[in-house]
Amino acid sequence: MASTDTYAGAQPLNLAEYPTAQEFVARCYEFFREVKHLTPGKDLETRLNRDYGLGNEYYEDFCRYIKQGLKEGWVAKDELDGPKYRRGRIIAPCEESLFISITTVYMESQDIYRGQYHKHPYGEINCVVQLDDSAELMGMQGWQGKGWTSPGPGTHHYPEVRGGALVALFFLPAGRISYDAKPGEAQPIAV
Ligand SMILES: [Fe+2]
Repeated sequence: MASTDTYAGAQPLNLAEYPTAQEFVARCYEFFREVKHLTPGKDLETRLNRDYGLGNEYYEDFCRYIKQGLKEGWVAKDELDGPKYRRGRIIAPCEESLFISITTVYMESQDIYRGQYHKHPYGEINCVVQLDDSAELMGMQGWQGKGWTSPGPGTHHYPEVRGGALVALFFLPAGRISYDAKPGEAQPIAV
């Protein structure tokens, strides 16, 4: 049994129940094969926003699947702070995913809202799926609307939203995430 610390407290989705989620996961696997040699961090964030941003087929597909998944009930199923802050793990790391996990977090707030402080031991690739055009997610480089953030290995932060509702669709190498981190701890040299 996976510990809550390692696997974000969420049992992976039962994909057999959700055909659209199966299609979505297959599309994620294609994306993972494109980025498998890259390391999360500022440079990857820049590259993702340049090459995989608005208008890119992966980005547009991910946004479409996540919006469909919200309607079908397989995105961000578990409430952490009522309906405005929800999380759900879609898949655990596995060979087919190149040992990258897929998780969705729904956050909704006009004013800045903070979720659970956490660290990404191996970094994070985070696709921002806007549900409101003004919604933004805070990354290590600042507020991000449509597009991507990619905190580097060892970084830690509050997930923060403002300006409405969004889904943070995030990919974690080896599924690694830690809720042990504390605000004020030193950040790695590169974030
Ligand atoms: Fe994060």
